[in-house]
Amino acid sequence: MSETRLETLPHVDDVTSSAVLAMAGRVADADGVEAISEAFRLALGSPRSEVTHLIAYAGESRPVGYAARDAAGSGELFVDPDSRRQGVGRALLRALLDGGATGVWAHGDLSAAQALAAVEGLVSTRELHVMARPLTAVDAVDPVLPEGFLVRAFAPGRDEPAWLDINGVAFATHPEQGSITLDDLRERMAQDWFDPAGFLLVEDTTQTDSSGQHPLAAFHWTKREPGSASGEVYVLGVHPAYQGRGLAGPVTRLGLAHLARQGLDTVDLYVDGDNERAIATYRRQGFTDAAVHVVYGRR
Ligand SMILES: CC(C)(COP(=O)(O)OP(=O)(O)OC[C@H]1O[C@@H](n2cnc3c(N)ncnc32)[C@H](O)[C@@H]1OP(=O)(O)O)[C@@H](O)C(=O)NCCC(=O)NCCS
Repeated sequence: MSETRLETLPHVDDVTSSAVLAMAGRVADADGVEAISEAFRLALGSPRSEVTHLIAYAGESRPVGYAARDAAGSGELFVDPDSRRQGVGRALLRALLDGGATGVWAHGDLSAAQALAAVEGLVSTRELHVMARPLTAVDAVDPVLPEGFLVRAFAPGRDEPAWLDINGVAFATHPEQGSITLDDLRERMAQDWFDPAGFLLVEDTTQTDSSGQHPLAAFHWTKREPGSASGEVYVLGVHPAYQGRGLAGPVTRLGLAHLARQGLDTVDLYVDGDNERAIATYRRQGFTDAAVHVVYGRR
């Protein structure tokens, strides 16, 4: 067994980034769950001041493990399937925590992650539920919205400020989603999956603001990777001023209708384990638990 060497980098070059992404692919194949979340995957492609990368090497040049942490203290790590049980994961985890990470994601909460967290004295501090449901032809019909509300597609170049406003207030207490900036939004809009037709805005047509616009009451941003038979409730929010008025169900179904009309078989979504109201909404719309991701941290 060769010694593990860790390298801490503010950004990674293209060669290392490709090697890490290839390793993430092998990890996903071996474990049956994505090894890296979207934000950290994006940070491998374009340098970001708030993300620090840790590469683990065994011997000279071959990366055998990868970890990253952001400025908010969130971290992720994975080890190449053929380099496990050699202390690499433990070394990466300790380096993440020493560097300031307060929580480390375990996608799928695999038994190896549970075991590693336990031996390092970490406990589950947050759960992210993956919920899923099939889509059928019945879903393809748009629901009727409560009176006074109209749905339209996001207009790039015009709707960014209004959407950032509603997203910020709807997700004010959410660790990641509430702090999305214009740059973050533009970066997502530049991805190959971005489709404004699937980014649905619900307006309150009974009100007009100072700029002559109808205020946004809710939104449902759907996502579909090119070629995938599955869609995602990417982000769904109701403005706090409009909560409790029966919008959540119809707004969920608007997005499902958009995805069903594209002939997709299934839809999934991510929701925090403590967001009981959202989970209840999704259960009522036929979603069931598919997987759980856990954040491990110090008690
Ligand atoms: C979890 C993961 C990072 C562990 O990496 P690793 O390099 O194999 O871990 P280590 O060799 O450093 O293991 C350290 C200790 O954790 C425990 N452990 C790790 N994997 C284990 C497993 N499959 N079964 C039981 N215990 C395990 C053991 O106590 C181990 O010590 P030991 O080998 O001396 O018994 C790796 O399995 C992985 O990449 N999984 C997918 C990504 C993931 O779940 N990341 C979240 C981590 S919190």
